[in-house]
Amino acid sequence: SELHTLTERLNSLGLGSALTPFPGSDPVNNPFDLFRSYISEELSKITGVSRDLVYPALEWTNTPDRGDLVIPIPRLRVKGTPPIELAKKWAAEFPENSYLKAVVANGPFIQFFFNPSVLFNLVLKDILTLNDDFGNSTIGKGKRTVVEFSSPNIAKPFHAGHLRSTIIGGFISNLHEKLGYEVIRLNYLGDWGKQFGILAVGFKRYGSEQELESNPINHLFNVYVRINKDIEAEKEASTNAYYEDHPNEKPQEKVEVEEKKPQEIKKGDKKPELATPAVPGVPAFVPTSATDDEARSYFKKMEDGDEEALALWKKFRDLSIVKYKDTYKRLNIEYDSYSGESQVSKEVMQKATKLFEEKNLLTEDKGAKLIDLTPYNKKLGKAIVQKKDGTSLYLTRDVGAAMDRYEKYKFDKMIYVIASQQDLHTAQFFKILDLMGFEWASRLQHVNFGMVQGMSTRKGTVVFLDNILEETKDAMHDVMKKNEAKYSQVENPDEIADLVGIAAVMIQDMQAKRINNYAFNWSRMLSFEGDTGAYLQYAHSRLCSIERNAESLVDLSTLHEADFSLLKEPIAEELVRILAQYPDILLASLRSLEPSTVVTYLFKLTHCVSSCYDILWVAGQTPELAKARLALYSSARRVLSNGMELLNLTPVKRM
Ligand code: ARG
Repeated sequence: SELHTLTERLNSLGLGSALTPFPGSDPVNNPFDLFRSYISEELSKITGVSRDLVYPALEWTNTPDRGDLVIPIPRLRVKGTPPIELAKKWAAEFPENSYLKAVVANGPFIQFFFNPSVLFNLVLKDILTLNDDFGNSTIGKGKRTVVEFSSPNIAKPFHAGHLRSTIIGGFISNLHEKLGYEVIRLNYLGDWGKQFGILAVGFKRYGSEQELESNPINHLFNVYVRINKDIEAEKEASTNAYYEDHPNEKPQEKVEVEEKKPQEIKKGDKKPELATPAVPGVPAFVPTSATDDEARSYFKKMEDGDEEALALWKKFRDLSIVKYKDTYKRLNIEYDSYSGESQVSKEVMQKATKLFEEKNLLTEDKGAKLIDLTPYNKKLGKAIVQKKDGTSLYLTRDVGAAMDRYEKYKFDKMIYVIASQQDLHTAQFFKILDLMGFEWASRLQHVNFGMVQGMSTRKGTVVFLDNILEETKDAMHDVMKKNEAKYSQVENPDEIADLVGIAAVMIQDMQAKRINNYAFNWSRMLSFEGDTGAYLQYAHSRLCSIERNAESLVDLSTLHEADFSLLKEPIAEELVRILAQYPDILLASLRSLEPSTVVTYLFKLTHCVSSCYDILWVAGQTPELAKARLALYSSARRVLSNGMELLNLTPVKRM
């Protein structure tokens, strides 16, 4: 019936009713698919080339002067005649029609220019009636996608890797939702390991119930830092005492072997290595710390399920989650589940170990068990899956967590948004799951990203997302104050500074391809000029003010009935051509999972809108013309707002 209404609409636009949508295309929601369907059908008739080959060969253009869609003739694989001649011939043979304003041969390409009047009547009407839903589609209907993102470690700093994961994962979740998928947002907390024994001991020594309640994340971090200092000091003391007694055993580089996540290992870090014995056969001196021992046995109690030990840990976890929720909310993110390394069940870990054995995957090395992945891919190396003492590892917990999740969600796709430092880690557990015989291992996807250089707040360390956001808000507030006249008109400057600041951080992050590294640049990020988050917010608020100013002249609820034939200027045509791309941009983003696809589009849109202001005046025009132009501006505002919300930004109405 959706298609039925489309046919009626095409009829009313004089486009005939004979369109056969290309299989899998979505001409109802996506104007580009409508044009692709039409063009591919006609071009297939003229060329005798299968529509299956023509359709996917239709490409976007880089600039409007090259048309809206273009086809490189060599892609049709017709032999004998040079592509340049074929292009000329076929362009000339293309039938008269109302879909297209022009069909132009240009070298070995044919360029197709959409008929703007069709776009005005189709696209503007759609935007003005569908509002928030414009751009959405139902291609994901009935499919479930799990997106795991952010996943910080309790009591450790929230670093740039977590920030990027949060931003990119939030976008990927929204995108799937808008395209009809059911989405499960998952936060996989680093909430297990010896560090929680350390933390518990530390809390008993230095903790404050009150501070824990009021600011768990910062407090636990402070406690963690402090107790680690104690451990360091004790180890040093034991080392000094030992060498006073054994002056002949030269002190050697000693680095504690502790399990670190690949993200936490910094460039300058010493490679963890075991101290080698000074005298062969004699064990090297191992520094001791009473506090460390205490922590170890505390964590052992946790692993054994000791309720008292677990109660304190659970309190840390629960209170941290309460706080996390608040901060994520600032970014419009809400999780369906706060899972974490602690939540991987004993049963599933046993099941995994059993499968390792059944499938003959294990080899042993010095008491540790590992899986040799080099036969499948040299780069994957050998993965340790069980330590000497039998305890689990970050890697195996990921294996178990994936199994648990499949049982629970029966996902069609699961996306892990994790920094590229963990490429190897992720590839290893994906491969292991595959070797274990899980068919669904092929449904796992790693979305990776590069590093941020120099992300520290102006005050010092980043403890959690909150610190970054507060700092940005304050800085943005300072920038706003510089324009006194404007600033005095903003009713809620604190709130606006927050929303504009958040946009600044997020746009800086999503501007380029994920895999690129970038430098956290305060002054560029906070600027209102150039392609920044503040500029997008400003563009949105200016469009809002145009609507506000016209409210008394034009009935904004009937803009979809405006007379679009009054929109004649080339710049108006250019704008509607950009607006028509939005649904197609979402589909392209689904393929690339690159937020930059949307960000780049939004800048193109706002630049075009800003060129419109000089030419398409609303004030002082006849009511009909004012209404038509307003319909165009209002459409632009809605698409901009939809795009910003897709990126998890909150568009501001005034600033
Ligand atoms: N908590 C981890 C870290 O900070 C990230 C977790 C990524 N997700 C996963 N399934 N391993 O490094």
